Amino acid sequence: MHIEWDDQFTGGIEEIDEQHKDLIIIYNQLVDECVANQSPVRPAYIVVLLTDKIKEHCQAEEQLLAAHGYPKAQHHAADHGEFIRSVEDLQHRFLTGGNPDLKIGSVMAIGKQLLEHTASDDLDAFDYVNASANPWAAHQSTGNFEPGAETMSTMIVDAAKAASERWQSFFNAGDAAGCASCYEDNAVMVAKPFGEFVGRDAILAFWQKIIADGFADVTYMSPTLTAEDAKSVVLTSDWTMNNAHGVITRELWVQQNDGKMKLREDHFEVAG
Ligand SMILES: [Fe+2]
Ligand SMILES: [Fe+2]
Repeated sequence: MHIEWDDQFTGGIEEIDEQHKDLIIIYNQLVDECVANQSPVRPAYIVVLLTDKIKEHCQAEEQLLAAHGYPKAQHHAADHGEFIRSVEDLQHRFLTGGNPDLKIGSVMAIGKQLLEHTASDDLDAFDYVNASANPWAAHQSTGNFEPGAETMSTMIVDAAKAASERWQSFFNAGDAAGCASCYEDNAVMVAKPFGEFVGRDAILAFWQKIIADGFADVTYMSPTLTAEDAKSVVLTSDWTMNNAHGVITRELWVQQNDGKMKLREDHFEVAG
């Protein structure tokens, strides 16, 4: 009745693999307690733990899949939803008493669901995540992009373009805090001839002053965006404002762990 971990289940993402192993250990403990049938309290406690761990795990997976743009992320999340409903139903049975023989049947059904999902849907998802994590490495070693690499490159560029447009919208709304929120905590901004500003607070103060001084209506004139790697995009562009113009020599947008794009570097010049 136990489930045994098999290295074939390894998805290559350590945190997730460890969570899968933990879920199997907890599940097996639950089976042992049900078979021993000595006290109703302990299996109920283990079911509650299993339910919590499954929810945490599903959430972690869904965030990861969304961050990597997994095309079947929604379908995967729907499967998780079904699985969570089953384990919540099991928890309800254990907390409200009931026939022990029926309960062991329900426990085994959960084990079957866990095993099937881990060995099939999860492996499919993590194959995609691993292939998309660094398609440029594949490009360098083979001379060809792996399937999907160009799509990934387009996706990261689109994400950077949207993030940059968001920055422009904040600026044009006179929202310095919004502009600052687009930068990483330790971002570096080099604004010639004003100087160098390190960290989001210094960058916020700069944009507050610029906006207070009456600069507005920024437009990027035919920006160029280039993916540097799977998570980074460089933007260059000429720009104009109501009372100035200049050039962006390097906006470096980097994808964060939550999937959002933020500025790590911002180099630009004000020509007048
Ligand atoms: Fe999983
Ligand atoms: Fe999953």
